Amino acid sequence: MFPSSIYKERRNRLKNEVHGGLVFFPGNQEVSFNYLANTYAFRQDSNFLYFFGLDQPDLAGVMDLDSGKDILFGNDVEIGDIIWMGKQPTMQERGRQTGVEEVLPMSKLEETLQSALTSGRKIHYAPPYRGETIIQISELLAYPLSDVRNLASEALIRGIVKLRMKKDQLEIQEIENMVDVAWLMHTTAMKMARPGTVEKEIAGTIEGIALAQACGVSFPVILTINGQTLHNHYHGNILVPEKMLVVDAGAESEYHYASDITRTVPVGGEFSQRQKEIYHIVLAANMAAIKAVKPGIPFRDIHLLAAREIAGGLISLGIMKGNADEAVEQGAHTMFFPHGLGHPMGLDVHDLEGMGEQYVGYDNEIQRSKEFGLGFLRFGRRLQENFVMTIEPGIYFIPELIDIWRSEGKYTDFINYDVVESYKDFGGIRIEDDVQVTATGHKVLGRPIPKTVREIEEMMAGA
Ligand code: GLY
Ligand code: MN
Repeated sequence: MFPSSIYKERRNRLKNEVHGGLVFFPGNQEVSFNYLANTYAFRQDSNFLYFFGLDQPDLAGVMDLDSGKDILFGNDVEIGDIIWMGKQPTMQERGRQTGVEEVLPMSKLEETLQSALTSGRKIHYAPPYRGETIIQISELLAYPLSDVRNLASEALIRGIVKLRMKKDQLEIQEIENMVDVAWLMHTTAMKMARPGTVEKEIAGTIEGIALAQACGVSFPVILTINGQTLHNHYHGNILVPEKMLVVDAGAESEYHYASDITRTVPVGGEFSQRQKEIYHIVLAANMAAIKAVKPGIPFRDIHLLAAREIAGGLISLGIMKGNADEAVEQGAHTMFFPHGLGHPMGLDVHDLEGMGEQYVGYDNEIQRSKEFGLGFLRFGRRLQENFVMTIEPGIYFIPELIDIWRSEGKYTDFINYDVVESYKDFGGIRIEDDVQVTATGHKVLGRPIPKTVREIEEMMAGA
């Protein structure tokens, strides 16, 4: 973990944002896999990591917003545990690591929260997302299970979002290190993308790199020759020469910061003319969007800029027709680019998504669209210095969507359905980078991963 001063400072900053009562941060518990003692790999809650940094199960943090005191709750392990787990730091040591004044056993947590509730004080907590935590909060605060999520504190959510959205240098370095691990994952995948290889051979190898170089993957690897399915986790196909391989994968650091990178490469290492044409459009959208990143610009505008690049490129190939601006205004491009341009990243690969996107990605000025396509944009509001965002445009030929929209006669002014028919076997292309908003513009984080047609073909030729 970072030095204790970092966590103390973060908690102090939160105290300037949220006022009155207690803030309760339940740490995560172990979660069972197929029987009680066989658990998933432990992942600490990201808010607990941000404000307390301790990476063990069965801890809780309480901040008293009135007295300013922070308390860490948890139990020392006993010899019965030590023989299985080895020697563990004492709770007093853990308290020092995170810089709290007071450490209490878990048995005191209920009493602390209940006595605050009885005196009419507010207990702020963030929206829980695991069943175990929802049950814990329900039992500790005597709230009905069905109310627990609704009773999360909006003031706390807003405070957490304000702090966590802006990354400091240590955090940016963590993300950057994880892009460097992603460099090795993606260049390895490129070299392995040969006809006859099975997707899972590559998926397993790059997940192994994330485990060997970092703490594992930051989300389940997306790796497929059927890239028209946006989040395809099936890895059983054999690579064939005419397809492209989409690899959307990143690593998670020891302190749990994520990278999230997508590259799309031709199986066998050489782009066909048709692949090159579509690839160049997605690349132009990716680069134009990155170029536009700077403080003050609404991310929604950058999304629409990328959409216009995509519509313009598809018009030039005869796949779409008409005017690109009008096509985007009416949403015709969403047949090919149905998702959002990107999302914040940090301790969560979709950073802060659990806090509610209305607090993270939207505000009074810019509200989420209800339209197909734009409605999938997770973040629309203005960028600020030291936000870290993904930029991930794509073009997909989704046969089922093409058939439905064609049968409905949708966007016939903008879509050349006869031409689109010939692309139904194409798959999809996505290109994703992790970008820091700087004081004057942007910085693409980490070691550059081959992205142009030439860079990719050279990397694959060197296999
Ligand atoms: N990399 C997966 C996603 O952004 O949804
Ligand atoms: Mn992403």
